[in-house]
Amino acid sequence: MTLVVLTGSPGVGKSTVANKALQNTTKEYKTVNYGDKMLEVAKERGWVEDRDQMRKLDPEKQKEVQKIAGEKISEMSETQPIIVDTHSTIKTPQGYLPGIPEWVLKPLDPDTIVVVEAQPKEIINRREKDAGERVRDKETTKELEQHQEMNRAAAMACAVLNGATVKIIENPDGGLEQAAESLLKVLK
Ligand code: AP5
Repeated sequence: MTLVVLTGSPGVGKSTVANKALQNTTKEYKTVNYGDKMLEVAKERGWVEDRDQMRKLDPEKQKEVQKIAGEKISEMSETQPIIVDTHSTIKTPQGYLPGIPEWVLKPLDPDTIVVVEAQPKEIINRREKDAGERVRDKETTKELEQHQEMNRAAAMACAVLNGATVKIIENPDGGLEQAAESLLKVLK
């Protein structure tokens, strides 16, 4: 079955782009949020209460939760085409954690890795708008530039290992329709 991994810095709008794309098609993709799966596992262990605490967990614990979530999603992808809404890097206090390390890449074996990007200032504004519901990290434009560079590098590194294609999609302010169209072209 086809599996597309959708990545991008938090607040870039990747979930919004996926929802828009799926509104405009009859293609039967199911969207699975990696963070939701991880949250289920981390809550069972009593390690977190909400999703924004996960990236502050000890990296070893994040990796344990990450691995179990990957196995669960891999099982789901056996029966239907899936878009996995996740990250190619997670910014932790100890540095960038790969979102798709080898032990996640192998079971998922994506056909395409999509990297959604926007201008750092646009991402900062979007995070501020979500501030009531989420505990968003504060990043400067320079830090976000670096974060987005790391996302591209991590996506391509994965692709080298499994042969996936990497698609970069711009999601500027006012450009949601076009970003969704670009994503639709990726979905078989
Ligand atoms: P996750 O659930 O992915 O949360 P997130 O990182 O905060 O990402 P969001 O889904 O909230 O943001 P988004 O980029 O999809 O933006 P949205 O569409 O909401 O992950 C949660 C946690 O799980 C992570 O922090 C991490 O700890 C963990 N995790 C996940 N995967 C992992 C992995 N593989 N390994 C380890 N840990 C992992 O949009 C944001 C805003 O922008 C909205 O208000 C929207 O209206 C607006 N917007 C969107 N597009 C546009 C546009 N074109 N113009 C104007 N506004 C726009």
